[in-house]
Amino acid sequence: MSRKRIVAGNWKMNKSLEESQALITEIRGMVRDEHRGQSKFIVFPTFLALPSASRLLEGTGIGLGAQNCHWEESGAYTGELSASMLRKVGVEYVLVGHSERRQYFGETNTTCAQKVKSAIRHGLTAVYCVGETLSQREDKSYFKVIEEQISEGLFGLDRKEFAQVVIAYEPVWAIGTGLNASPSQAEEIHAYIRRLVAHQYSEEIAADTSILYGGSVKPDNANELFMCPNIDGGLIGGASLKARDFIDIAKALR
Ligand code: PGA
Repeated sequence: MSRKRIVAGNWKMNKSLEESQALITEIRGMVRDEHRGQSKFIVFPTFLALPSASRLLEGTGIGLGAQNCHWEESGAYTGELSASMLRKVGVEYVLVGHSERRQYFGETNTTCAQKVKSAIRHGLTAVYCVGETLSQREDKSYFKVIEEQISEGLFGLDRKEFAQVVIAYEPVWAIGTGLNASPSQAEEIHAYIRRLVAHQYSEEIAADTSILYGGSVKPDNANELFMCPNIDGGLIGGASLKARDFIDIAKALR
């Protein structure tokens, strides 16, 4: 995937099936009526809402993503879904390694690497999330933490596979807290991630990689974040549950 400006909504464990359909319908209408830019929209509803979301989004240009997948194709993995199952209901993107999955479900860079591989093998684009905790920011180990998350999670991919990756930098201390990283804090890490990719693959591949910022992005702080040269858009949690805010955030992404 060449570098794109993306605004993605991670709905987490929110919205019933009916509420999800209503929100998608609302977003769809606003995108049709108001969206003038080149940016790409992606929504990540719950698993339950994916098949109907896929139908509602057909022909709109809005991408559909799942919040997680398993790395195996099928088998005795109670409660899980595979990338190929997701693909078959029209999913195009999958979040891998969101900090809530790392924190509450024991995901590691190693399991994330397996999920990314499987997602790509089945034709999905992996939106791979990285970010440091507050204590890692305070003890200044965050460059090392991010370097490990990126290299262990992604650098087993070959160049062709890597083209199916979007990276999201989400400092854990900024998620759902109302404390967003300052534009300079975010830009510093985004530039660092791009350098890691250039070093591993090439300058050209690094320049082609979309790197999103996530963590308390709102309509009133999106503009200053999205002006940074290495920030290609946002992964939005809370504010993506309101169509108006989600679209207003996208408008900051010119
Ligand atoms: P937030 O969540 O925008 O509510 O901080 C972002 C995320 O977790 O992806």
